[in-house]
Amino acid sequence: MTPLNHIEACVFDAYGTLFDVAAAARSLQHRLGDQWEPLAELWRAKQLQYTWLRGLGGRHADFWQVTGDALDFALATLGIEEPALREQLMALYLRLGHYPEVPATLRTLKARGLKLAILSNGTPAMLSAAVANAGLDDIFDAVLSVEEAGVFKPHPSVYQLAVDRLGIARERLCFLSSNGWDAYSAKAFGFSVLWCNRFGQAPERIPSTPDGEIETLAALPDLLR
Ligand code: LAC
Repeated sequence: MTPLNHIEACVFDAYGTLFDVAAAARSLQHRLGDQWEPLAELWRAKQLQYTWLRGLGGRHADFWQVTGDALDFALATLGIEEPALREQLMALYLRLGHYPEVPATLRTLKARGLKLAILSNGTPAMLSAAVANAGLDDIFDAVLSVEEAGVFKPHPSVYQLAVDRLGIARERLCFLSSNGWDAYSAKAFGFSVLWCNRFGQAPERIPSTPDGEIETLAALPDLLR
């Protein structure tokens, strides 16, 4: 694909893009057995559904609450009744770990003088825990939580937070998300967008198509001029 011109900042989604959302359930594989993967998938799918339902219903609750509610739903669906396990999974969600290429890629971009930010559904406390756990405290110019907007992605006021905080025009911000719906919605808002399609998902059928697609963030530095 053609490199993007005039990018001044890279803005990253957090969960699934920088931080491995399946890591909590995977690390309890010894307790969950074959159920770890269905649990991870259902937990994530329900977590996202709850963000959209809360938004549509005008009943915002923060991402920590929604993440816990989604976990309760997933555990009940799979017939797992272990309060201690639930607490362990929630604690693990605060230190998920990053995808392998993340630190080196971010450091390359920073060395080039690009501004770096996170824009996520996560609460400020969740995000600062994840960033610290990944050893990335010194790298971001801004860690932005939807809590400042009081509504989840893909509400446009969430994407506007990055414009306001960084003071950079929409098209000069390169937004990266592994969540197709987030990447498409950020493009519809007016960002330059690369979809980090880690999971080989089919194209979305919503406005608007991202500027390009990459498999991991390692491809990013070569695509910015
Ligand atoms: C986030 C979710 C969408 O970090 O992964 O905003």
